[in-house]
Amino acid sequence: MLKLSKLATAVALVVAGSAAVAGEVEVLHYWTSGGEAKSVAELKKIMQGKGHTWKDFAVAGGGGDNAATVLKSRVVSGNPPAAAQIKGPAIQEWASEGVLANLDATAKAEKWDELLPKVVADVMKYKGNYVAAPVNVHRVNWMWANSAVLKKAGVTSTPKTWDEFFAAAEKVKKAGLIPVAHGGQNWQDFTTFESVALGVGGVKFYNDALIKLDEKALTSATMTKVLETFRKVKGYTDAAAPGRDWNLATAMVIQEKAAFQFMGDWAKGEFSAAGKVPGKDYVCAAAPGTANAYTFNVDSFAMYKLKDAGAQKAQADLAASIMGTEFQEVFNLNKGSIPVRLNMKMDKFDDCAKTSAKDFVDTAKTGGLVPSVAHGMAIKPAAEGAIKDAVSQFWNDDKISVADGVKNIAKAAATK
Ligand code: GAL
Repeated sequence: MLKLSKLATAVALVVAGSAAVAGEVEVLHYWTSGGEAKSVAELKKIMQGKGHTWKDFAVAGGGGDNAATVLKSRVVSGNPPAAAQIKGPAIQEWASEGVLANLDATAKAEKWDELLPKVVADVMKYKGNYVAAPVNVHRVNWMWANSAVLKKAGVTSTPKTWDEFFAAAEKVKKAGLIPVAHGGQNWQDFTTFESVALGVGGVKFYNDALIKLDEKALTSATMTKVLETFRKVKGYTDAAAPGRDWNLATAMVIQEKAAFQFMGDWAKGEFSAAGKVPGKDYVCAAAPGTANAYTFNVDSFAMYKLKDAGAQKAQADLAASIMGTEFQEVFNLNKGSIPVRLNMKMDKFDDCAKTSAKDFVDTAKTGGLVPSVAHGMAIKPAAEGAIKDAVSQFWNDDKISVADGVKNIAKAAATK
């Protein structure tokens, strides 16, 4: 009897001990703007609620270029973080180096295969094994507009075509306000560029030119028209744009200094953090000519191989939390994106998110769902970097002719 109760106590202690196994989870991310910081704070809260220690490793710089550089040096020196915010083909590149952890046990227990669209699950896997956990779905081809500015300028309806857009931009300019809020990193230029390419050229052109990097499409008359339109958009930005962060450009729209911004729906995170309401204070609309298409950008955390058992446990908990319903709702409400987990209730989300969720499903059926090149979802990092540089050179230097711009971009696309 005594023996049995001793045994029971011992078992209880072991169980309590293992439940209390907590670890430190170091998370590398680049979510430092107002809306982004609020969003990532929710993940920290969930992890702390599970008893783990959150080590924040934030590297400022929208789009994540700075974070990618820091990550490389940490992995190369044999000291990777538990998780890093990377996405698209970059996940495959890291996995092929043999440094990512296998998340299959968590994925199986949490039924990720059933809860994720296949197009997303495939990106999270390397050779059939999960190595990353997806967070959300951002739509990139949005145009944001300040309702009061449009009213002041006499713009009565949201532009649906590029011609309507330029007519509206002209009115805003005449009213003494900035038509387009823009910033100064090449990923911001490319965010606008790919929306122009999609709007002017359509889905097939976008796929041929920017995803397949087909030379014929890249040097076509359509590409010429894309660059002409792109340059025209630049004419409506202000002289202080170079070097500006994306969220400061969003702030110009929020503060009624500028009318429009072409940016993914992390911009909505900034509007929300500032207490602004869609449909009232601001408008979310597909970039001109792109209503039937959807450039997607899925944020995700790749997990790195770790030695410490506590850290491994924390890492598995992080992966499970990311795909959990609690996180998927609260994070995406703050971030401006929509849940990546299927069959989530959308009743707490605003109309922009509801439109995004509907369009994500609809465009998947029509073929209008395409990966964002600007946000690292489509092509290998080397070619992506080269094309981005060529596009930004064209954007920044008005002396480069459209014909030369076309040639430079086509040449950059051939980078291996
Ligand atoms: C994107 C990222 C978003 C957002 C944005 C600005 O590439 O997917 O989550 O944070 O950059 O930093």
